[in-house]
Amino acid sequence: MSMRKSSAVTLLSPWLGRGDRFRKCSLSRWIPALVVALSALALFWTYAVPQLARFRFRGGLSWYDMGWYGFGPSRNYASFNEESPVIEITPAGAQCDPRYTFIAPRGDSVVHPGPMILDAKGELIWTKPNSGTTQDFKVQSYRGQDYLTYWQGDEEDGHGRGSWYMLDSAYTIRYIVSPAGGLEGDLHDFQITSNNTALITAYEPIPYDLTSVGGPELGWLYDGVIQEINLETGELLFEWRSSRFYPPESSYEPLGEKGHERILGYDYFHINSVDKDNHGRYLVSARHTHTVTCVDGTSGEVLWSLGGKDNEFLDESDGAATQFAWQHDARWQSSNTLTLFNNAANPESDRSSVSHGVLLELDIPSRKAKVLTTYDHPQELMVVSQGNLQVLDNGNVLVGWGHSAAFTEFSPEGTVLCDVHFGASAYFTFGRIVSYRSFKSNWIGMPNTVPDAAMTRERVLVSWNGATEVATWRFQAWDGADINNMTFSTIKDVGRSGFETEIPFPSDFTSYFRVVALKSDGAVLGMTEVLQRGSTEPMEDSPALDHSWRVAIVLLFILCCLTLGLYFAISRFSRYRRSQRDRSYRPLAHKDEDEDDPENGIGHHMAI
Ligand SMILES: *[C@@H]1O[C@H](CO)[C@@H](O)[C@H](O)[C@H]1NC(C)=O
Ligand SMILES: *[C@@H]1O[C@H](CO)[C@@H](O)[C@H](O)[C@H]1NC(C)=O
Repeated sequence: MSMRKSSAVTLLSPWLGRGDRFRKCSLSRWIPALVVALSALALFWTYAVPQLARFRFRGGLSWYDMGWYGFGPSRNYASFNEESPVIEITPAGAQCDPRYTFIAPRGDSVVHPGPMILDAKGELIWTKPNSGTTQDFKVQSYRGQDYLTYWQGDEEDGHGRGSWYMLDSAYTIRYIVSPAGGLEGDLHDFQITSNNTALITAYEPIPYDLTSVGGPELGWLYDGVIQEINLETGELLFEWRSSRFYPPESSYEPLGEKGHERILGYDYFHINSVDKDNHGRYLVSARHTHTVTCVDGTSGEVLWSLGGKDNEFLDESDGAATQFAWQHDARWQSSNTLTLFNNAANPESDRSSVSHGVLLELDIPSRKAKVLTTYDHPQELMVVSQGNLQVLDNGNVLVGWGHSAAFTEFSPEGTVLCDVHFGASAYFTFGRIVSYRSFKSNWIGMPNTVPDAAMTRERVLVSWNGATEVATWRFQAWDGADINNMTFSTIKDVGRSGFETEIPFPSDFTSYFRVVALKSDGAVLGMTEVLQRGSTEPMEDSPALDHSWRVAIVLLFILCCLTLGLYFAISRFSRYRRSQRDRSYRPLAHKDEDEDDPENGIGHHMAI
């Protein structure tokens, strides 16, 4: 009887039901199966395919870059509540600039986003969990003193509503800066000038006739505003607005559904950096018009435009000097050279775009531009947003890859010296861990807190968030004399080893103790509270399963499921084939119930 079935149905029969029952219930079985299959396909097409298309597959990725340790691998500490990224430095043995790195990691793989200082090996120096978004974390000098500065606020629609913060070496907030005229402080730039003024960016929604770009007559445009302000008084010293010089038609950003409401204006210009040279000329980078604009510091007139639809420069580098796109961070390097980070891509760009840092030379009187050096990532990253370029004191160049969790140091000629990832590069396009900018700088931090400590049965672990000057941890025990007026004697000194240092307890030690932080010259920087071994429930000595084990267990689980599924599928199929064979030996029909008995088919087979 089964001979009349088509071969495809024969093949599918083991999964759809067999024999007579197949004919009886075929529709009621086929339709749900078809619906499930189609929905799975639709889901795969909508969600998985675009995601898979974002991978940048390439040979030779390390385990780290393939995500073996997670999208954004991190480590935690016993004595400190925050996590810090586990980084990968390539090539092996690379000598990175020994100064500290300043980043502000955020994204789905970052538990507590905020400003962060790492040393050249990637060890945590300082972090601070901030609410909202933190960006543009760096060291700036103001009136001869170094400050940590960052923007903090709420990001919406690609710009921000917040303020700039300035922290002193004790990590105390000294200034909170806002734009003049009641504008909201935007996340893109905050530069303290050599004259101790601040350059800031702001986005102001203004009523605007957008019919020239196919928008509403009574529309809304985001005006790109730069201000120079007095840091002490907040007084406005200079202001420039893009809408006076660039019409909406100069934009490459599609209008889309924007421009109808004040809260959703047309972001046609998108200022993302402002710089000033010693001749008082401002340099303004606008991502959505692909322009770098030089603005006269007194009149506010546009002196020239480089790039975009208003480009005035002859390109002596076959387009590479003027055809940058969606760029960031335009900075003067001398009176006729500038650097910028050419994203060459936005989230809608095709996948072949490659981003890079670039040093340009301008002949301003005759309006000519050429590329002097480009700085490419060894894996040819496409960075759809953010990014920066910093020329270090020694002439080397640091490029922060913004939307990709990486920063790279180059020689002045563009050779990669040291490439650092703080996320797995195979997933960079997903932006699970990003830092708007990355900087290197010296920094001295002397927190006004006490060092943190945690104990296990065998040791005490000490750390001190932000303390850059600790060279040695000194373990001191109470001498047992007067509990009302404790004096301590030194038991041993242990050199600081990374953010958290382990100090094994002396054997048979049960008393009170403290740990003192010493500078390299022996001066006391601070000390823990008085602690006692065994006075608190000690932590387990065995570390928790680390991330690679978690990944391994998940993979093993999936593998087991697949193997089991395959095993059952094959065994069911072969049972079906056997029962088919049985039928040709025994033409007598047998009851459906028998077919559901797994022993049955095997039994018959064995009998043959
Ligand atoms: C600093 O002030 C001097 C004198 O007003 C001016 O010439 C110079 O351009 C200013 N520099 C910056 C970076 O603002
Ligand atoms: C505590 O001890 C020190 C010497 O070890 C002594 O100089 C000091 O007066 C004592 N203080 C009190 C309050 O007893």
